[in-house]
Amino acid sequence: MEKVKEKRLFIETYGCQMNFSDSEIVGSIMTEQGYTTTDAAENADVIFINTCSIRDNAEQRIRKRLKEIKRMKKSNPNLKVGILGCMAERLKQQLLDEEEHVDLIVGPDAYRDLPNLIKTVDSGRRAINVLLSEEETYAEIEPVRLGNNSVSAFISIMRGCENFCTYCVVPFTRGKERSRDPETIVNEASDLVTKGYKEVTLLGQNVNSYTWNEDGAEVSFPQLIAKVAAVSPELRVRFATSHPKDISDELIKTIANTQNICNAIHLPFQSGSNAMLKKMNRKYTREWYMERISTIKQYIPDCGLSTDVIAGFCGETEEDHQETLSLMDWVGYDYAFMFKYSERPNTIAQKKFPDDVPEEVKSRRLTEIIDLQQKLSLRSNEQSIGKVVEVLVESTSKRSEADLAGRNDQNKMVVFPRKHYQIGDYVQVKITSCTAATLIGEAL
Ligand code: SAH
Ligand code: SF4
Ligand code: F3S
Repeated sequence: MEKVKEKRLFIETYGCQMNFSDSEIVGSIMTEQGYTTTDAAENADVIFINTCSIRDNAEQRIRKRLKEIKRMKKSNPNLKVGILGCMAERLKQQLLDEEEHVDLIVGPDAYRDLPNLIKTVDSGRRAINVLLSEEETYAEIEPVRLGNNSVSAFISIMRGCENFCTYCVVPFTRGKERSRDPETIVNEASDLVTKGYKEVTLLGQNVNSYTWNEDGAEVSFPQLIAKVAAVSPELRVRFATSHPKDISDELIKTIANTQNICNAIHLPFQSGSNAMLKKMNRKYTREWYMERISTIKQYIPDCGLSTDVIAGFCGETEEDHQETLSLMDWVGYDYAFMFKYSERPNTIAQKKFPDDVPEEVKSRRLTEIIDLQQKLSLRSNEQSIGKVVEVLVESTSKRSEADLAGRNDQNKMVVFPRKHYQIGDYVQVKITSCTAATLIGEAL
């Protein structure tokens, strides 16, 4: 009998952690079809690009990459190319028309259809499925772990978003908000613990809006995260990304009272100006956000705090911008993801508000935001000098083979000399110095 040649799949992922988690689901579905995942694009029979649409530059990067893949296909005409994720969902058929070397377009809720779609592609035709679903959570699919440090894993617990922040494409690319059966989440966490994992991050576009109803009983996000934490005291539990509107007292108290739920909250504020927040449809005010931060600090005094912020949204004045800076300073974030506003086709902002802050003003404001955050990060890290922190070792340091790297409870990166320690160990580290990005110390 002729030996069936093993088919190799290369998945390249852009965008948020949800997309990385989705790639692991795709990996699992494709493995069932006889594919093995490879980390070398040159050797692959199939290349999937899991794409992001959040800002124009994200899409431009992917378009560039598609040009390179087009050249790869010239030298290997049997290579099949699929575009997955948010760009697939946003552009649909248009993407197939514009990129003639692409064989397959699949939106984020259609991955279960991949076996059929791949058959179509194998028969020499092009295939597309961009249907969004109101129920799909891929609940019982066991992801193939692609990150593969075997220490830390993502668990996707809810999908979609219907907040319709006016600048954002996600509600259009990811569809309606829906939560996953808690039993399957807890089982996935238990399974990871059995396999030796030490940390899970619960993921969702608005992770803390999680809610599950069965037989009239509700499982809320605080209840869910407590269940996951109860799987093992050795398992660290993190979560991202939270929407400020759903940071409840109950959630804050659950984090404070549960030893293995990490004291770190990523809470995007986007803008410090009430006028901008209203225009963005963020559903909270500056004062309300500040009250939430005060409550967090009251119950969890050492809580790591991080955020997302947008510079130069439609109509943003110099005063609005100053309010963003003053809010950042007041909170004292440990780190932040900072962006220039990028107008996205068909969003509410694109239809209603002119993108009228000049490019150089956006750039200058972003630079001021980055400079401030650099100071805040350094200040926050300096406060850790002399303290002892518990680090979960994730990898060898990027800078030196002699050092290990991991994170503390507050999600700060810590680097220290390796000695006899190994990846996956919990290590007590005394912090001796720092940069704005990293704490440096010695294992005790
Ligand atoms: N669901 C999460 C994160 C969504 S996307 C939340 O609401 O917090 C991640 C970040 O990208 C957002 O928090 C926002 O800061 C940024 N972002 C989204 N759309 C953008 C746009 N059109 N231009 C610039 N930044 C944007
Ligand atoms: Fe986008 Fe807002 Fe939804 Fe976050 S909450 S994904 S920023 S629409
Ligand atoms: Fe990008 Fe889609 Fe995530 S647009 S940020 S990959 S939800």
